Amino acid sequence: MNITESKSWHSRAKLSIPGGVSSPVRAFHAVGGTPRYFVSGVGSRIRDIDGNEYIDLVNSWGPMILGHAHPAVLEAVQSTTKNSFSFGAPNKNEVLLAEEILRRVPSCDRARFVSSGTEAVMTAVRLARAATNRNLIVKFAGCYHGHSDALLVQAGSGVATLGLPNSPGVTPGQTQDTIVLDYNDFQAVEDIFQLRGSEIAAIITEATPANMGLVPPAEGFNKFLADTVHKHGALLILDEVMTGFRISPGGWWGKYGHQEGWEADIYTFGKVIGGGFPIAALAGKAEIMDLLAPMGPVYQAGTLSGNPIATAAGLATLENCTSEVYDQLDNSARVIGAGISAALSAANVNHSYQTGGNLFSFFFKQGLVSNFDDAKKQNTDAFSVFFNSMLQQGIYLPPSAFEAWFVSNAITAQDVASILAAAKVAAEATAASL
Ligand SMILES: Cc1ncc(COP(=O)(O)O)c(C=O)c1O
Repeated sequence: MNITESKSWHSRAKLSIPGGVSSPVRAFHAVGGTPRYFVSGVGSRIRDIDGNEYIDLVNSWGPMILGHAHPAVLEAVQSTTKNSFSFGAPNKNEVLLAEEILRRVPSCDRARFVSSGTEAVMTAVRLARAATNRNLIVKFAGCYHGHSDALLVQAGSGVATLGLPNSPGVTPGQTQDTIVLDYNDFQAVEDIFQLRGSEIAAIITEATPANMGLVPPAEGFNKFLADTVHKHGALLILDEVMTGFRISPGGWWGKYGHQEGWEADIYTFGKVIGGGFPIAALAGKAEIMDLLAPMGPVYQAGTLSGNPIATAAGLATLENCTSEVYDQLDNSARVIGAGISAALSAANVNHSYQTGGNLFSFFFKQGLVSNFDDAKKQNTDAFSVFFNSMLQQGIYLPPSAFEAWFVSNAITAQDVASILAAAKVAAEATAASL
């Protein structure tokens, strides 16, 4: 595979941008080799600057749920851009997108837009503290909620990929009110609430952790979290930045929470609600959300928040995420995931294939991974071999063993056949490397 141009641009990028990248996992440090510089994408396929084509199983880490350059999203963006790009004032599209989100999650009365998942979560935490008049936040090791200071302790995603337990620059003061527990540990949650329940503002959790690889909640875990916080006058912040409107028309909660009979108090969304543009949101009941300025005293603002183009793209994306689309996403994920697992088994490569709705990932180790400690025991070198073999064969996977894989609705039967054929070769290469 000729990657001369990607190599040359990456050498140049490293002189002007730290590591040559605008977000760390993209640098390929965990898997070795050169990150690809992409120039175009249509449907399920993306093309790099050297003209190589890849079937995309990253999909911009989730937003491209309909595939690249989807005609309806393209049309919405193009027609909106003709009328300027930003006003820093209210616009119709943000109202329509808020209404669409609230229609999908009926337990929410209000949504507020920001520009990234990090901001959505940061604001949710501030709001939870203000609403309860308490300081402590409980999070789980290996969950990633963006890079705000208070939550950058034992985080997943790039922090896990690079093996950084905590980040320099975050002071002890900024994390002194953050309690970190092991995921899926019912007893630890029980214990901390016995000990400090009256000081805890909220538990924040990913609806299903997908930033340490995919780790599904143990049966009843999310309901247990909701029941526990509510018993103690605290709140549940359900981080659906990754799962929101990817797992079902109502996100993770719409598929599982609704059925299991629990509700969160504040939900955070991102990725899919922008269809590839920088937008995210937090949503919840009016009595909590109306604490935000200008209705209440909790401050939050943004120059580009609710931007008309981002909201147009998000709205067009959600409008095209029909129940048929979710069926197809589920089906593609199942066939690809199970097929790759079968290829790994046939090559005698130890692995755990884990799913959460249509999100999935593989841990190169035996046995279920149910928390971050387990996840760290995987063989990341084996993942690198598998990743690089797939890349050489034109399949673009997340360049980290600590990330979930994302299908788009644009994946065809031919794509699936190509992915599974490549996986057979990659599994054998992985076996040979062990
Ligand atoms: C669950 C979760 N929360 C928050 C974030 C942060 O979102 P952003 O990267 O848009 O700041 C992410 C990003 O991957 C995420 O997966």
